[in-house]
Amino acid sequence: MPQVTSDGRTLINFILNGKPASGQAEPRMLLSDFLRQVAGLTEVHVGCEHGICGACTLRIDGEPARSCLTFAVQIEGRRVDTVQSLLGPRGELNDLQAAFRKHHSLQCGYCTTGILMSATAFLEKNPNPGEEEIRDMLSGHICRCTGYVGMVRAIKEVVASRSAKSKVPA
Ligand code: FES
Ligand code: FES
Repeated sequence: MPQVTSDGRTLINFILNGKPASGQAEPRMLLSDFLRQVAGLTEVHVGCEHGICGACTLRIDGEPARSCLTFAVQIEGRRVDTVQSLLGPRGELNDLQAAFRKHHSLQCGYCTTGILMSATAFLEKNPNPGEEEIRDMLSGHICRCTGYVGMVRAIKEVVASRSAKSKVPA
């Protein structure tokens, strides 16, 4: 049960990118604002603020979620992962991030962090999607720069490479 402080704010304890974290939020503070303003995570981008553009997408207990449609108090005791969770132990890009870079899947980068989080969850559930399914997943995100072609190429390349690796005998 979250604790309420004497000034009416709520102390929230949660797991952020694999580590215990906490912070205080006003009762109706949005998770996107909480992560940016209280936790200092500026990789959580805010565009439309009403669930349409997908820029603010992160994962809560593994499921993609729009942080602009979630109250901060709802993450008490839960696991929140931002794009930082994809990095390796020395800050290296994972295969999906590297493929996005290779295929010029981003320009301004505003949509990118949210798309990477959706794509990561999508590939965990569906490791071998067809192009139609990839495009369908991307349709939940608005990108004003790229035309999505590089993203589709990047995701297809990751699918092929992960599938090839999974077939290599140990
Ligand atoms: S800022 Fe959350 S969906 Fe657009
Ligand atoms: S790279 Fe600019 S909005 Fe997608």
